[in-house]
Amino acid sequence: MKCFNDIYRGKRVLVTGNTGFKGSWLTTWLLMCGADVYGYSVDIPSKPSMFETLSLESRITHYYGDVRNKNEFREYLEKVRPDFVFHLAAQAIVSTSYANPFDTITTNVVGTASVLDAIRNADWQMTAVIITSDKAYDNVEWIWGYRENDAMGGKDVYSGSKGAAELVIKSYWHSFIKNMPNIRLGVARAGNVIGGGDWSADRIVVDTIKAFSDNKPVEIRSPKATRPWQHVLEPLSGYLRLGQELSMSFDGQSRLFSIEDQLATFNFGPRAEQTKTVLQLVSDLARNWGMNSDDYVKITGQVPFEEAKLLKLNCDKALAYLSWHSTLLYDDTVRFITDWYGAYYKHSDVDMFALTEQQINNFYNEAKRQKIEWAL
Ligand SMILES: NC(=O)c1ccc[n+]([C@@H]2O[C@H](COP(=O)([O-])OP(=O)(O)OC[C@H]3O[C@@H](n4cnc5c(N)ncnc54)[C@H](O)[C@@H]3O)[C@@H](O)[C@H]2O)c1
Repeated sequence: MKCFNDIYRGKRVLVTGNTGFKGSWLTTWLLMCGADVYGYSVDIPSKPSMFETLSLESRITHYYGDVRNKNEFREYLEKVRPDFVFHLAAQAIVSTSYANPFDTITTNVVGTASVLDAIRNADWQMTAVIITSDKAYDNVEWIWGYRENDAMGGKDVYSGSKGAAELVIKSYWHSFIKNMPNIRLGVARAGNVIGGGDWSADRIVVDTIKAFSDNKPVEIRSPKATRPWQHVLEPLSGYLRLGQELSMSFDGQSRLFSIEDQLATFNFGPRAEQTKTVLQLVSDLARNWGMNSDDYVKITGQVPFEEAKLLKLNCDKALAYLSWHSTLLYDDTVRFITDWYGAYYKHSDVDMFALTEQQINNFYNEAKRQKIEWAL
């Protein structure tokens, strides 16, 4: 597959959090782009996991380490000497942040500082993309989309940890990295993602598919809540596109660096059309899954923990500088999900790595059809 102008072909790419949901999809895509992938993660965060289902450990060079161990991470980075780093390792579950607030803060804030500290000591050419979240924004509950220069904040611990990580990134960039000619650094903010291969706790698609695969109704607590549902491949296409553009700036070929002397921070969000209620999503998943009664959903009305209300991202900057916008329509997003989990739960003989590659290929072909720049 030739995409992102083949910038990742033959390159060493280090992915932290590679054993997680997004990390496993990113690894598969990078392998398809011809990259040599290196991983750094503390554990495999779920059982089952996409990482194990796709046998990713045998396809890459993987290392089990805690990102909070500054020296251990630095040694690994210096051993690998990657051309690209994608930092995804995090405590990423909102409900867990209520159970383990302190670990969430150390992993998400100190862990990010460890990565940046290793980067500031690197003496080779390297491009790094740090993944935070839309929840890093101070959510003032307005109807407009948040722009990259809006204030950081976060009232719950997970959101606060992502806001704090952003401040750490900004200070490292201003104090050290912006003056390093061998380093390019970018920050990517995206919202909740859905897709096959997720088994994390307290995520609606995961709970729904688990229930349907046992032929049981799914319990939902806020049927009318709306979310901008986006497939995991959407922000990943943004992260890879940002890495490409940052790296092109080493040869003076980027629009990004001639335009601004700022940290390259980008939102990657879905189109407005993707916003649907939880109930709509569950009923579309049920239809595709072949659930044949109206009893596929049970509304409990119990909200076990507070979560930030709808946050909308303004993605004009990604469109202007990266020619990036999202690819899939809502119906295709839902179909990708039921196809993936349907193969996993209903057909034990399917090669899930090949099926994941096929979904990435379908996504790429759709982006190409729409003439989105990264796919040309
Ligand atoms: N999934 C989403 O909807 C979503 C939305 C916005 C932002 N994000 C961000 O994207 C990134 C990936 O999310 P995900 O859903 O794939 O998460 P995940 O929970 O599936 O995976 C987390 C990964 O981080 C690793 N990790 C956790 N603590 C670590 C530590 N101390 N040291 C080293 N590795 C550690 C885990 O081993 C795993 O590989 C995170 O930064 C997350 O905050 C995710």
